[in-house]
Amino acid sequence: MIHLASSSSSVAALSPVILRCSTSNARILPSRSIKHRRRRFTLRTSTHLHPQPLCCSLSPSSASSTPLGQSNSATQMQNSLMYSRAYWVSKSIIAWNVDIGDDVCYLLASKDAALCIENYEIQGEDVKIKLEEDRAGLPANVVEKFPHIRDFRAFKLPPDLDVKPLLKCQLAVVIYDSAEKCKNCTGLQLPGVIDELFSYNGPLGALFSEEAVSLYLWAPTAQAVRAYIYSDSSGGSPLEIIQLEEDNGVWKTKGPRSWEGSYYVYEVSVYHLSTLSVEKCFANDPYARGLSSDGSRTYMLNIDSDELKPEGWDNLSNEKPHIDSFSDISIYEMHIRDFSANDLSVNPELRGGYLAFTLLESAGVLHLKKLSGAGITHVHLLPTFQFAGVDDRKENWRYVDTSILESFPPDSDQQQALITAIQNHDGYNWGYNPVLWGVPKGSYASNPDGPYRTIEFRKMVQALNRIGLRVVLDAVYNHVQGSGPFDEHSVLDKIVPGYYLRRNTDGFIEHSTCMNNTASEHFMVERLIVDDLVHWAVNYKIDGFRFDLMGHIMKRTMVKAKNALHHLTKEKDGVDGSSIYIYGEGWDFGEVAKNGRGINASQFNLFGTGIGSFNDRIRDAILGGSPFGHPLQQGFATGLLLQPNDHDYGTEVNVETMLAASVDHIQVGVAANLRDFVLTNYEGKEVKGSEVLTYDGTPVAYTSCPTETINYVSAHDNETLFDIVNLKTPMNISVAERCRINHLATSVIALSQGIPFFHCGDEVLRSKSLDRDSYNSGDWFNRIDFTYNSNNWGVGLPPQEKNEKNWPLIKPRLADPSFKPQKNLILASVENFLNLLRIRYSSPLFRLRTANAIQQRVRFHNTGPSWVRGVIVMSIEDGHDGFPELSQLDPIYSYIVVIVNACPKEVSFAMPSLKSRTLQLHPIQGNSSDPLVRSSTYDMSSGCFVVPHRTTAVFVEPRDI
Ligand SMILES: *[C@@H]1O[C@H](CO)[C@@H](O)[C@H](O)[C@H]1NC(C)=O
Ligand SMILES: *[C@@H]1O[C@H](CO)[C@@H](O)[C@H](O)[C@H]1NC(C)=O
Ligand SMILES: *[C@@H]1O[C@H](CO)[C@@H](O)[C@H](O)[C@H]1NC(C)=O
Ligand SMILES: *[C@@H]1O[C@H](CO)[C@@H](O)[C@H](O)[C@H]1NC(C)=O
Repeated sequence: MIHLASSSSSVAALSPVILRCSTSNARILPSRSIKHRRRRFTLRTSTHLHPQPLCCSLSPSSASSTPLGQSNSATQMQNSLMYSRAYWVSKSIIAWNVDIGDDVCYLLASKDAALCIENYEIQGEDVKIKLEEDRAGLPANVVEKFPHIRDFRAFKLPPDLDVKPLLKCQLAVVIYDSAEKCKNCTGLQLPGVIDELFSYNGPLGALFSEEAVSLYLWAPTAQAVRAYIYSDSSGGSPLEIIQLEEDNGVWKTKGPRSWEGSYYVYEVSVYHLSTLSVEKCFANDPYARGLSSDGSRTYMLNIDSDELKPEGWDNLSNEKPHIDSFSDISIYEMHIRDFSANDLSVNPELRGGYLAFTLLESAGVLHLKKLSGAGITHVHLLPTFQFAGVDDRKENWRYVDTSILESFPPDSDQQQALITAIQNHDGYNWGYNPVLWGVPKGSYASNPDGPYRTIEFRKMVQALNRIGLRVVLDAVYNHVQGSGPFDEHSVLDKIVPGYYLRRNTDGFIEHSTCMNNTASEHFMVERLIVDDLVHWAVNYKIDGFRFDLMGHIMKRTMVKAKNALHHLTKEKDGVDGSSIYIYGEGWDFGEVAKNGRGINASQFNLFGTGIGSFNDRIRDAILGGSPFGHPLQQGFATGLLLQPNDHDYGTEVNVETMLAASVDHIQVGVAANLRDFVLTNYEGKEVKGSEVLTYDGTPVAYTSCPTETINYVSAHDNETLFDIVNLKTPMNISVAERCRINHLATSVIALSQGIPFFHCGDEVLRSKSLDRDSYNSGDWFNRIDFTYNSNNWGVGLPPQEKNEKNWPLIKPRLADPSFKPQKNLILASVENFLNLLRIRYSSPLFRLRTANAIQQRVRFHNTGPSWVRGVIVMSIEDGHDGFPELSQLDPIYSYIVVIVNACPKEVSFAMPSLKSRTLQLHPIQGNSSDPLVRSSTYDMSSGCFVVPHRTTAVFVEPRDI
């Protein structure tokens, strides 16, 4: 164990190197301020103070408000150190988009961050190195890694320069004119050179051996690192303060095994570009496995300890529900707190937490068992890692008395006023505010201190697996909540400032995700993501991962993650990684759009990877418009053309075309959104899926195989399915009709090729009282009732901040009592949903495994210009005597026909192509308690179908009739 040294070895190590540089290399000019420099050096090494820069103390936020006009160029120059517009991309190259003409360019370094510009003079440097422009420009590998700076000029560093110590300094590149005046100046972004010199694959975090605990922290730009060890989760003075030793960017120490169960914090002394100073930052371990209840200390948890294992844990992989193929997956998305916060059959202490899943007779678990029995294979949990926005200490939560909330009218603004007044102090948040990826969220544990998070999380996974459900975690690697040296939620940016977060060409953090974006194109960010996934897969036996804003992560990272997971084996790792499925949001926007920062994991780029992405095309075509469009825009299921509301779509012909195009989009989606699936479009042309275009002209289809699409109409984002249907349908239709629409929309998803995805509550007509973004709307708006008594419609106007604009549309709907579904409708909805799942799992034909199989077997019949409007007709063929070239997949049915009638009236039509097949209504629908679906008919001699209004009818051809 190394106790606190009286002088910092790393700081001391830096000075001889710099002196060597400045004496041995002719290109390094003697500085005008050697005396000044020496003096400050002495000061530092003797006192360990972290001096503030002598000037230039403006912060970047004040910089952005400084006008950058010509008239103010001296100020502009003075502020220029707050930007990082140059890139140190490799050991020998700095990239900067400047034209230096006859001027000269230097790299300046100051170990105690003393660089300062005044009157076009720069001072405070310890080192000054002349750079030569390389007219050949940036090398190809640099352009590939940083495509957004491809046109920058390349400046060469001296070949014998000792780069590593310089990276611990404040750095700037400067252009001097012939009069030695500073003409231009900026700070540097370092990830390129850091990756070249410090990419590291060795141990990180706390490692436990028989006798010792070793700590490893990757922090190549840090000047010193200390660990404070505490016996308790808060308060008290440290048991020990340990100086870590650096070995090529990795800081290490070793302590006794008795450290296990204690708490620790790192103190990192490092230059921060956001403050232009060397700061002492107190940070958690990025590889933390446990935390204190207030989140400020890392809990030293040995994840392999037997004491953390629920009974049977080691054997859980043998109990995992069986899955033959990823194409058999169907997903149910749920929030841990929503699941039981409102469940009166759960002991109040356990409501809203991990352990609620272990109560086998609770209303919620009974509901999950029904879903599992009917076919749902995976429960996808919204963020479960340590996130900001909910205090882990329940004793700090604030509540609103529900009896008061219940006393207000259904369209009142009182409920939301009371809820939002405490929204940052209650127990509710979706959790898309990552603080530490590797630690289970404390607010869901019975005790946020110590090992309980881990034990209880494992019990949850085990309980879900035991009722036949695999567990998917929502992984939010694209952004983090905090940054900078001081924020309590900042971790990564305290340890290697500027490295983990993606920055723009001015050097400021990108925030297109609405938070601090991460940069998986940097080696150690990618490594952290992959390590974290493997950690959850191995240590919590997780069965799948959903990636938030996956398009903000590089494709390379996703493929690496997939391979790392798939290489886990039961023998070696205790889990079978080949059954872990991954998918995410492949949106392409912000700085990463169009491969702006490298090839990203967006929908089109993922073709052929086997990684799924959410299919917004089928969602928008079914519901109408888009989550970014006008809320009243209708779609196939919500009445476009067939039962119009008063939204203006232009001419009648226009609306007809919109409906026809929507049906094409849906058909492509039903055929797993395959890029090369050939179908007849509404104009009667044979086209591929990729030739069917969305309204903005991009191809609808983008997958190579069925498991690359996640088909859905609703998720946690935006209005619930029931709510969006209530917005888009005309005011005067009945609630029973709206329930049919809810079911019709779900049916398309449930009977599609590819992977169906459902939002928790689609099946119980869940409402959030029309809230379009309930991430912080408390238990009240997110309430779900597994006793099926109510659906949470009309519990007040949804929170003002996100919904006020739509209040005029919302108010009359909430006020109208006829919109509220009674229990019988909720029960019918549950039954209909379970029946859809049972139908999907009644035949492998609904879950075809390859693109070829889908092309050969799936056909759409009601296509081309003469189509019956509002009706989709799909058949799926299996091998049989009349069709010997197809193999036989289904022992029971040789042919299936699905008819989706979105019209508000019965349709009756003949399909010559389906004549003389021996079809009958699917037995599950024959026994349905919905009299309408039971009345669907087919006449073999004429090939004529009759399907009631807003009904999805499934016909099957049994093999031995
Ligand atoms: C200074 O450099 C920036 C690039 O970082 C460039 O855009 C700007 O034009 C330069 N200013 C002058 C005065 O050369
Ligand atoms: C673990 O599973 C194996 C194989 O299924 C079985 O033989 C063994 O008894 C189980 N052990 C425990 C402790 O349940
Ligand atoms: C980034 O981090 C800072 C500091 O922690 C925080 O205040 C800010 O809200 C974050 N930025 C965004 C866009 O979320
Ligand atoms: C839908 O959700 C997304 C993600 O939260 C959000 O950006 C968008 O504004 C929402 N749209 C509407 C209409 O609520």
